[in-house]
Amino acid sequence: VSMSDFWSFYIIAITVVNIIGCVALLYFTRKKKQLANEGETTGHVYDGIEEYDYPLPRWWLWLFYITIVFAIVYLVLYPGLGHFRGVLNWTQASQYEEEVRLADKKYLPLYQKYSSMPIEKLIAEPKALKMGQAIFANTCFGCHGADARGSIGYPDLTDNEWIYGGSAEAIKRSIMEGRTGIMPAWSTALSNDDILKVSSYISSKNTQERAYVKEFVTEGESIYQTNCAACHQADLSGNQLIGAPNLADSVWLHGASSGFVQDVISQGRINRMPAHDAILGEHKAHLVAAYVYSLSNKLESNSESN
Ligand code: HEC
Ligand code: HEC
Repeated sequence: VSMSDFWSFYIIAITVVNIIGCVALLYFTRKKKQLANEGETTGHVYDGIEEYDYPLPRWWLWLFYITIVFAIVYLVLYPGLGHFRGVLNWTQASQYEEEVRLADKKYLPLYQKYSSMPIEKLIAEPKALKMGQAIFANTCFGCHGADARGSIGYPDLTDNEWIYGGSAEAIKRSIMEGRTGIMPAWSTALSNDDILKVSSYISSKNTQERAYVKEFVTEGESIYQTNCAACHQADLSGNQLIGAPNLADSVWLHGASSGFVQDVISQGRINRMPAHDAILGEHKAHLVAAYVYSLSNKLESNSESN
């Protein structure tokens, strides 16, 4: 894109000289035909194989001419000669934008229809969910995974456990406005022993079975209530307003082992879900929110057969 004029000219010169060179070479070998005597060798012999001096076959020459004409036509129409953009003014970006524009135009009536329906109703519309799934595959899978199950640091969107809330409204808001979760680092305020103690207390309250030091639990509890309850609540149930996760369930955003838990407490975490309102716009955000909502909310009529 930011090619200097010198390099632009340099590339044009090389390309043009190359094409002229090909034409000259063909012209030269074609002339030689009249001079060449059938059956005469060039005198090159290697391993008993002699090189005959036959002219190039006519069909091969024609093929060569066709490729040269193709190259010239291509370079006139499309970008390839330095700064010259080609008479069609084609760019990869403009082709992509044009495709997106046409698709959006084609689907606009559908987008408008689905946008006017509440997300809770859209899970009964297979076509809307399909469109939402396609948007998810394009925009979200890099972080949340193709199956929406996430990975360490990226929440699982299928388990019906929510950091910021699982209502249709909360999900759409997470997508449109983004979210930032800030877990402070405690390595300066708490000693390593304190961190072991508070993590033992969390383990003792967690539904997941894990090993912990029983003698640490009482002290761990007081460390927890002093430092952590403001955000994670006295009963460890978390706070969706600030995205403080539930510490009593077996769903872990930053890893389930006590090693991971202690590392999060000691180092803290700043975790960001980017805002997608500008990227997706209202219609697409609504559809992808419906798709995410559908992953943990099945239709009443379907839930028995599943
Ligand atoms: C750059 C990575 C990234 C992309 C892209 C991304 N997300 Fe996220 N998302 C995250 C992270 C990280 C979090 C957790 C934020 C936190 O811990 O505070 C999150 C959180 C969420 C939440 C809240 C989950 C909860 O438990 O409350 C939803 C819903 C969500 N994302 C949906 C989406 C959808 C839909 C898309 C695509 C339109 C998307 N995300 C694209 C990284 C991403
Ligand atoms: C200022 C509010 C705040 C305080 C105080 C706080 N936390 Fe957190 N904590 C958070 C937030 C927000 C997250 C989620 C970070 C994210 O989005 O990735 C979190 C995440 C965690 C996690 C990871 C949970 C998971 O699912 O992986 C653990 C463990 C944790 N906190 C323990 C503690 C302990 C122990 C203390 C007290 C020593 C504490 N927190 C104090 C806000 C807080």
